[in-house]
Amino acid sequence: RETGTMFEAIGGYETIERLVNAFYKRVAVNTELIPIFPEDLTETARKQTLFLTQFFGGPSLYLEERGHPMLRRRHLPFKITPKRRDAWLECMAQALVEAEIEEPYRTAIYEKLTMTANHMMNTPE
Ligand code: HEM
Repeated sequence: RETGTMFEAIGGYETIERLVNAFYKRVAVNTELIPIFPEDLTETARKQTLFLTQFFGGPSLYLEERGHPMLRRRHLPFKITPKRRDAWLECMAQALVEAEIEEPYRTAIYEKLTMTANHMMNTPE
């Protein structure tokens, strides 16, 4: 449906959960990312599911629970270098494939997340 949201187009909440699970499974074993993430990623994944739901045009679940995203500010406690940005995006690229998000949505989502990831960098290499 051309007037629908990206959230609806990719299959809604179930698809976001599939994506987030595939993503944090990779984060958990990524040597660049391990040092800054908590050992137990359950809560991190849950918040990311709320966020991506609204980011792709679904219900404002993140806003309701956590308030305004202010993502750059929430990431300031962590050293986000270009290498870590690349690692994050690589985990996401693979997760988009595993979650079977098809084109043109796969590329559209990846591009939107790349812009946000660039904005999150706060530390030179
Ligand atoms: C939280 C790293 C990019 C969305 C976090 C946390 C870390 C992190 C370490 C804290 C995890 C926790 O304490 O539970 C990174 C790195 C990135 C990156 C290395 C590379 C550029 C992004 C992007 C998005 C995003 C592009 C959005 C599309 C979030 C959200 C949270 C979070 C929603 C939870 C914030 C909260 O409510 O506490 N990230 N992140 N991150 N990140 Fe990222």
